[in-house]
Amino acid sequence: MIPTKSSEIQVPFLDLKSQYASIKEEILEAVYAVLESAHYVSGERVEGFEDEFARYIGARYVVGVSSGTSALELALQAANIGLGDEVIVPANSFFASAEAVSRVGARPVFADVNPATFHLDASSVQNHLTPRTRAILPVHLYGRAADFKGD
Ligand SMILES: Cc1ncc(COP(=O)(O)O)c(C=O)c1O
Repeated sequence: MIPTKSSEIQVPFLDLKSQYASIKEEILEAVYAVLESAHYVSGERVEGFEDEFARYIGARYVVGVSSGTSALELALQAANIGLGDEVIVPANSFFASAEAVSRVGARPVFADVNPATFHLDASSVQNHLTPRTRAILPVHLYGRAADFKGD
C-alpha cells in the first residue's frame, strides 16, 4: 500500500532493537548477575566497569554514576562552574545538556550545529564566546564523535 498521509510515512531513525539483539545474551547475563548479588549501587561490578572503561579511553580515573545527566552535572561542578558563568551547548542536543548547566547555576548558551554532522559548529561557538564563557560542552551524537578540530 502506498502511504497517502504524512503520518503514514515512517523513516527509520535509530534501530535500538537490533543493537540490543546483537548483545542480548551479554546484557541479560549482566543484569541477572546484578539482581542475584542485590548490589545495586557501586560495588564490584561498577568498579570493574570503571577500570575497564579507564583503560579503553586511556584515562587515569573513571567514576561510574547513575545517569548521563549526573555525569554532566558532576563534570561541571568539578570544573567549579556555577553562578554567573556561561557554558556553550549545541542547539540541537538532548535537554540534559542545558539542564545540567542550569542545575549548577550557570547559563546555557546555545550555539548552532553543522548541518552535515549535527555537531557544534566552531564558528558559531566563536560568535557566542564572552568573558563569562567557562566551558564548551560538545555532544557526541548518533554514535559519531564530535571532531572539534575538523568542524
Ligand atoms: C546527548 C544526551 N546527553 C545527556 C543525556 C542524559 O542521559 P540520562 O538520561 O542518562 O540522564 C541524554 C539522554 O538521552 C542524551 O541524549
